[in-house]
Amino acid sequence: MASPKGAVITVVGSGLIGRSWAMVFLSGGYKVKLYDSQPGQASKAITEIRTQVLELQEAQMLRGKLSASEQLALLSSHDDLSQALEGAFFVQECVYEDLETKQAVFQAVERHVGEGVVLSSSTSCLMPSSVFSLVQNRTRCLVAHPVNPPYYVRLVELVPHPETLHVVMDTARDLMTEVGQAPVCLRKEIDGFALNRVQYAIIAECWRLVKDDIISVKDIDLVMSEGLGMRYAFIGPIETMHLNAPEGLEDYLTRYRFGMSRVLSSFGPVPEFDGEAAARISKEICELIPGDQEHLSARRERRDQLLMELAKLKK
Ligand SMILES: NC(=O)c1ccc[n+]([C@@H]2O[C@H](COP(=O)([O-])OP(=O)(O)OC[C@H]3O[C@@H](n4cnc5c(N)ncnc54)[C@H](O)[C@@H]3O)[C@@H](O)[C@H]2O)c1
Ligand SMILES: *[C@@H]1O[C@H](CO)[C@@H](O)[C@H](O)[C@H]1NC(C)=O
Repeated sequence: MASPKGAVITVVGSGLIGRSWAMVFLSGGYKVKLYDSQPGQASKAITEIRTQVLELQEAQMLRGKLSASEQLALLSSHDDLSQALEGAFFVQECVYEDLETKQAVFQAVERHVGEGVVLSSSTSCLMPSSVFSLVQNRTRCLVAHPVNPPYYVRLVELVPHPETLHVVMDTARDLMTEVGQAPVCLRKEIDGFALNRVQYAIIAECWRLVKDDIISVKDIDLVMSEGLGMRYAFIGPIETMHLNAPEGLEDYLTRYRFGMSRVLSSFGPVPEFDGEAAARISKEICELIPGDQEHLSARRERRDQLLMELAKLKK
């Protein structure tokens, strides 16, 4: 990939995720043009990014080789879409999670960019084939799904539209790697992508175990945070199997596959996540962490602080 010097990325939508993407791209030395359809919103976002970037520098957690002021000098805000898209080679969309809004945004974006420009969506739950259905040239479109907060949690899922060119996936993967994210490529689209499919499988079984009164909310969360999560911050489930038998994965399967299948066949149906169980589980978590803003914010701050420490450790 060409050196980022002078290369422009346009971020469309300057909410939580748009601001995070902007900071990630700035850290890689890219010029970032931030656009929002709500007048004044993009310039407000810049003020917020400035504060955060300076705080990160203070905490010695600023990413990239450039100083805070060098990074901030690469950032501009725009209330006019065509101006925001001028010169961009990559567009990252971060507007509301609403299909029609996203479709309209990409239709408008396409009118203002040249043919080589890559169009990327941050959608968490929509399929690329739906998001890009109104785009003329869908070969240049993909989803780049970040994890919140992207500055500390580096995974990005790259998901192609059925027509997306390999070279477009490669461009996105190289860009994400270059700015310090950890991209993974899905070979085709699937509902929930990879991360949420795995996450929902975990949520479902945790929910069933609490609902069926096998374990408390507090203890099932400890199963993850003190057990599986300790490993999963560094090695995935397949490597875990590979390391957990003396001769590696095949040995693991010989020893454990019948047990795994037996346990898996005892899983219950997909939970409804409502009714008496939802009320009871909500009550139980609120006894541990009251659901008011003060307690929730404190726990979010603790989460982000710990994620920051973990990100340091992973480096
Ligand atoms: N928040 C998360 O944890 C998270 C994680 C991964 C992906 N995402 C995805 O990122 C996207 C953005 O989420 P968010 O949490 O930043 O939302 P947000 O509500 O914080 O921000 C959305 C921004 O888009 C702007 N906007 C709305 N319509 C627009 C338009 N037509 N053109 C330009 N700007 C427009 C809004 O003014 C707002 O500033 C969503 O698709 C979401 O699913 C969110
Ligand atoms: C479609 O996009 C691809 C990838 O950016 C590009 O190579 C191609 O020239 C574009 N085709 C048209 C007709 O614009």
